[in-house]
Amino acid sequence: MTPKTRLIALSNRLPVVAQRKDDSWTVSPGTGGLVTALAPVLKNRGGIWIGWPGAHGGEELSRVISTSSSDVGYTLVPVLLNRREISDYYDGFSNQIAWPLFHELHTYCHFDPKYWYAYQIANRKFAQAVARCTTAQDYIWVHDYHLIGVGQALREMNVTRRTGFFLHVPFPPMNTFVKLPWRAQLLQSMLEYDLVGFQTMGDRRNFIDCLQRLLPGVRASGRGPVITVTYEGRSVRVGTFPISIDYEGFLKRASSPEVERGAQMIRERFRGQKIILGLDRMDYTKGLKERLYALRNALTRYPETRRQLTLIQVLVPSRRSIAEYRSLKARIDRLIGEINGQFSRMDWAPIQYHYRTLSDGELLSYYRAADIALITPLKDGMNLVAKEYCACTVGNEGILILSEFAGAAAQFQNSALMVNPYDREGVADAIHTAFTMERSEKRRRMRKLRESVRRQNIFWWVESFLQAAFAKHLDDFPPVEEYVPDMSTGSD
Ligand code: G6P
Repeated sequence: MTPKTRLIALSNRLPVVAQRKDDSWTVSPGTGGLVTALAPVLKNRGGIWIGWPGAHGGEELSRVISTSSSDVGYTLVPVLLNRREISDYYDGFSNQIAWPLFHELHTYCHFDPKYWYAYQIANRKFAQAVARCTTAQDYIWVHDYHLIGVGQALREMNVTRRTGFFLHVPFPPMNTFVKLPWRAQLLQSMLEYDLVGFQTMGDRRNFIDCLQRLLPGVRASGRGPVITVTYEGRSVRVGTFPISIDYEGFLKRASSPEVERGAQMIRERFRGQKIILGLDRMDYTKGLKERLYALRNALTRYPETRRQLTLIQVLVPSRRSIAEYRSLKARIDRLIGEINGQFSRMDWAPIQYHYRTLSDGELLSYYRAADIALITPLKDGMNLVAKEYCACTVGNEGILILSEFAGAAAQFQNSALMVNPYDREGVADAIHTAFTMERSEKRRRMRKLRESVRRQNIFWWVESFLQAAFAKHLDDFPPVEEYVPDMSTGSD
């Protein structure tokens, strides 16, 4: 029998969430764009997803995860990390070196060599899971900055696979990237894949600049979305694939009666006011302080906006084991307190603040209720909140204020109100412009934004990547008759 071709996804986190409750593990399905996009290609087609369950645990956790494969319809292979690996590979290299460096915030980097060594060891561990669970027929699709070294680790283990890598975060300009002590090694490991994908042309340009400056002998040729790089006898394709969302899925859920009721309730609560929505992970790349300064500036310079607007700011807790994230939280709490303290009146406060994860229903209701989405990251790979807001703005009556430094800016620059997040007055002016925008203008812009997300949705993204990486379509992964999850794990 000819072995089947399967798609194997690798990401730091598995698409399920494991939690320890009353001495036993519960596993619930994860949400997010990547799961929605990849599930159809993996489900009942023998697909495998390899990743860390996001919690510290042993054989029991591993068993529970493998068992939940039958619920999701594809095989989940947990890579268990011990406490030291979590601290040095995940908190360390991934979140205190790669994350800030790639977002051009190198002053947040802790270039501790032990993090680099841990990163390589952890990447080897993920590669061992690939070696154990896959065959040479399979396609391996590696995701994001946590796992750049997997391709190289496979080669060192003499495991030959067709591989693709997609970077979800930005790739920094050369002047920033050169600060990384292991800059040449990291670039070389990116060239171990058959295809390397970026979110935007700008990211790819930065990557090629770095290659040309730091790896003598690299040649880049070709034009268009996918070009070719040759290095030491290898040929690597390098492309641009802006990630997206399941437009129809969001639209359908946002149009449900429950969500309509939720949105109505929010509108009632803020009757007579424009609702501005800010929705972010609590992260220093999101421009949260700058956004709050801009709101204060708007309330000061445009007094007519007082009592007439509310910023609903939702911050989802994130990476709390890292000091910078904890101090950011303290700073934001204080700033929101100061602004509310300064401007609030008996019947009105300018900011309503949530520090928690929203349920799906709440999230969609906020999207639907918001008159304006205020998305002002200092740097962002894409920013899917911008796309989700557009998909959910069912009646086209919404305005997107978007940072020039989000990946989504390339696609949205003509129809969103574009801002420099560092420019408080500029962002305040944009808030005022949105506040006073004519209905027809609003609708014209939003229709264009939504059409663009509808056309280039998440399935388009998967399809473009698979096509460029493996000359395969979604439909090329045939369904399997019986699917038997049977994967051992790499615990310690
Ligand atoms: C970003 C990264 C993802 C990551 C997510 C949440 O979007 O690109 O790879 O999973 O942040 O961060 P966390 O550290 O909680 O996985």
